[in-house]
Amino acid sequence: MTTTTQWMAQDIDPNEPSAARAYDYLLGGQHHFEADRRLAEQVLTVLPARTMSRQNRDYLHRVVPFLIGEGITQFLDLGSGLPTLGNVHEVAHRADPTSRIVYVDIEPAAVAHGRRLLADTANAAIIQADIRRPETVLDAAETRELIDFSRPVALLMLGVTQFLHDEDQPWEVTARYREALASGSYLALASFTWDNDPETMRKTIAMFKDSGRSPIVPRTREEVLRFLGDFELVEPGLVYAPQWRPQTPSDGPAPSNLYVGVARKP
Ligand SMILES: C[S@@+](CC[C@H](N)C(=O)[O-])C[C@H]1O[C@@H](n2cnc3c(N)ncnc32)[C@H](O)[C@@H]1O
Repeated sequence: MTTTTQWMAQDIDPNEPSAARAYDYLLGGQHHFEADRRLAEQVLTVLPARTMSRQNRDYLHRVVPFLIGEGITQFLDLGSGLPTLGNVHEVAHRADPTSRIVYVDIEPAAVAHGRRLLADTANAAIIQADIRRPETVLDAAETRELIDFSRPVALLMLGVTQFLHDEDQPWEVTARYREALASGSYLALASFTWDNDPETMRKTIAMFKDSGRSPIVPRTREEVLRFLGDFELVEPGLVYAPQWRPQTPSDGPAPSNLYVGVARKP
């Protein structure tokens, strides 16, 4: 158990489970409490969430260097979770220390915590905002300071679309972000899907519902493709997470409950 409170902002309630800290637990991180571990363990009874979290983070580790190789130096990361365990700024700054990163998360506790973790890091900030309200993200002081929208930006939506319900109009919301980007920008997605294992997804949705939590929303291939609008998919297209430009033996041809893809604004 993590007992250190050095990283802990004063206004964090450790008894309130946090999606960001539960994800940190699933990734093998150090920033979680008992309530977060209970949430994660409950999810693990129905969903291979540890494998999915790893696949998601491994994809991030392949996609950020790819984007830097395409000349991208600005990242807007929607639904970022905690800036730890090789999150975007760590990968991007290794390749290019001048690259700029704005993390966005809805959880006040994750953001308070993230601010402490980033206190000594140049060119990176985390803001608390609901990504369903694009103007609050696009107009935030940190976004305006760090991101120049007249130049290409990478918009990252990794492991977050499952929190956006259809009635939140996630396709219209994503279109608003796409519109704000310059030609040559990219959208990188990682999205829960029904297509690989519908029975597990049904059980997961039922578990969230039965425990009084807002259910997650897996999507079909067509629904995930709609997030990309008229952006042009780069090779290998929209694929299961381990199939996107595999680099190690743990990447590869296996299917997964996550579709991923990267598309470029013409
Ligand atoms: C599974 S984590 C993904 C972390 C990271 N993007 C990655 O791929 O490694 C999802 C994060 O999305 C955040 N989130 C969920 N709904 C959100 C919303 N409407 N606005 C902003 N953040 C949201 C959660 O708080 C959580 O930290």
